[in-house]
Amino acid sequence: MIQFTVKRYLNICLISGLMAFGFLPSPAMLMDESLITIETMHTALVYRVEDSEVNCYYFGESLQDYEVFRSVTTPAKGPLISSARGQNFNEPALRVTHHDGVLSTELTYIKHETKAVSPGVRQTIITLKDKVYAFWVEVSFTAWFNEDIISMSTRLLNREPGPVQLFDYASGYLPLYAGKYFLTSFHGEWYSEMNLQEEELTRGIKILDSRHGTRSTHKLSPAFILSLDRPATETTGHLVAGTIAWSGNWSLTFEKQVSEVVHCLGGINSEGSEWELAPGGSFQTPRFLFTYSAAGKGRASRYFHRWARKYALMQGERLRPTLLNNWEGTYFDFDERKIEEIIRDGSEIGVEMFVLDDGWFGSRYPRDNDRAGLGDWTVNRKKLPGGIGHLIEQTHARGMKFGIWIEPEMVNPKSELYERHPEWVLQEPTRDRYRQRNQYVLDMGNPSVQDFVFGITDHLLTEYPAIAYIKWDANSHFSNVGSTVLPTERQSYVNIAYTQGLYHVLDRIRAKYPEVMMQVCASGGGRVDYGALPYFHEFWTSDDTDALQRIFIQWGTSHFFPAIAMAAHVSATPGHLTHRVLPIKFRFDVAMTGRLGMELQPGQMSEEEKAFSNMALKTYREIVRPVVQLGDLYRLVSPYEHNIASLMYVSTDRRRAVLFAYHHHFRFGDMFDNIRPQGLDPTARYKIRDINTIDPERQKWSEHSYTGEFLMKHGFRVVSSWGSTDDPLAIGLFGEYTSEVVELQQVD
Ligand code: DGJ
Repeated sequence: MIQFTVKRYLNICLISGLMAFGFLPSPAMLMDESLITIETMHTALVYRVEDSEVNCYYFGESLQDYEVFRSVTTPAKGPLISSARGQNFNEPALRVTHHDGVLSTELTYIKHETKAVSPGVRQTIITLKDKVYAFWVEVSFTAWFNEDIISMSTRLLNREPGPVQLFDYASGYLPLYAGKYFLTSFHGEWYSEMNLQEEELTRGIKILDSRHGTRSTHKLSPAFILSLDRPATETTGHLVAGTIAWSGNWSLTFEKQVSEVVHCLGGINSEGSEWELAPGGSFQTPRFLFTYSAAGKGRASRYFHRWARKYALMQGERLRPTLLNNWEGTYFDFDERKIEEIIRDGSEIGVEMFVLDDGWFGSRYPRDNDRAGLGDWTVNRKKLPGGIGHLIEQTHARGMKFGIWIEPEMVNPKSELYERHPEWVLQEPTRDRYRQRNQYVLDMGNPSVQDFVFGITDHLLTEYPAIAYIKWDANSHFSNVGSTVLPTERQSYVNIAYTQGLYHVLDRIRAKYPEVMMQVCASGGGRVDYGALPYFHEFWTSDDTDALQRIFIQWGTSHFFPAIAMAAHVSATPGHLTHRVLPIKFRFDVAMTGRLGMELQPGQMSEEEKAFSNMALKTYREIVRPVVQLGDLYRLVSPYEHNIASLMYVSTDRRRAVLFAYHHHFRFGDMFDNIRPQGLDPTARYKIRDINTIDPERQKWSEHSYTGEFLMKHGFRVVSSWGSTDDPLAIGLFGEYTSEVVELQQVD
């Protein structure tokens, strides 16, 4: 529910008339001290209109009564949008040069309105205008009431007689107020995504950003948690958690000056992306999404997860199949026979879908390695004489679905596509063309490239309507930021035009193929953002499938993204780069906390491993999947703080739960705190048992049932060096890479 309390002093016709001519309503007409409250079930953001300015008075837990903000006792934290102007010495959210060369912008309130978009979702648009210039800013908020997520974005409109140059144009600005601030951010690399780091903000400016274009989350994620006053834990502390829904260059700025206020700005990274707004033109910024938690980080994650499943993923409330991908099993080295065997063996161990990865295409320049063929999307008949159709038949005959890999935004110089269209790649006429992974990036801002990229998916899905899943990869970031279709003076549009072009193509694909499952991938987790995710069912979390590293990668990723979207595959051991040998149970127990899959040649597993896989896939399908994919996550023991880690998922009706515990670094004699479950119904009784084990004895339900209250207060005892695990309330983690999965079920 969004309160909508503005008194209307101006008649609508008069406003429209003034607006049409770009005149500023006189301050006297705007003496109304209105409150504008953007509210969700637990969160509120309050603005007050005063002296024709809109100021932010509050962002925090929702209140019973907002009338208190009509008085002036609480100081304003900052404006609605901080602009570059004479009296603002902070980093501005908006910095433009007006048509006559004036550098400052002074925004005044014009009007606001709130409307219901759908049940539980409301939009508030606050319209501002420069005091002098016919330059308008519409600040738009969407509030998802039940999910406790708010988004903020701006639309900039130029009604001036000449062009306006946009230099900085953040989507959102939040002035926050606390004694101290602790910033958690997520940094990474290929093979090591979403590592957590936390630091206290000191005076000055802290910027998190990306300039990698396609691989928007390659080094840093556009996600943050800002703990207020003291570092938040999983269950305690006030914090703001936010992210930017944009699959291109982004930036997040946290500025702490002499006052206690921290100015937090987020949006497109404007570096090298100056944009000219012609008279009559407008520019829409992407969404800056955020939430507030007064009970720690876990709650903020659950807010994002629930929201994502309902609003920000394709079919986010539909269970995902398990799958077997051949990439780590074969890399480029496969033929039809090998793939047929993988399909056969995969079906025997019980996976539900097979996905054919890179290397299936290219005729004149076969894609036998990453140096050739990318861009030539015709099947390589030497490798696969029966073509895709034959593999689909094989897969269907074994009762599985079929999926396929593409990397449509890229091209190898050694390809027929590049020979035909060298002008389609991003390039600068005077510079060498830089390659990453031996490939160039196609210019998605070019309408012909957009048609081509749409065509790749469209042809595949038209010719093979049985394709159920597409893995959409992108393995190169931007190096040459230049386009052959943009005029010289518009080259700074490339970054933004690329992402807009990508979304345009994905819109076309989704309009025609709403059902086909799609995974977003960019050399692993290089494009995990809420700009891309609405088009996709899931993301490839990392090329690193080593279960130990995955504990950390998935831990970080889970702060903003739900398990249903987090692809997690069991791969062969030892790991390719880590050379670590890990037990099959440990590998499954880790991968089960996301969308479970496998990434190996099942034929190369031992009989024991095959039998375990068969049991584990069944356990996942029948017990774990609905709870993990649709339930609420509770992170219980952090791998960053302890040599063990534990997390659990609880179904939204709290009737079922699955708890995972891992021992990732063993030192004999280590003692651990009890692992205390969370999220259970305190008054209900639960029986418990071990699952994902081949020992039938250990899978027996506990003789007794325990109240949720008892389990949450008492917890599970961790036995790691000596002692017995006969007690159902003991979790045995005997040695490095041991793990347990515990099922909890309510007894009626
Ligand atoms: C990078 C992806 O992350 C991998 O899973 C795989 O699809 C390769 N690309 C294929 O080239």
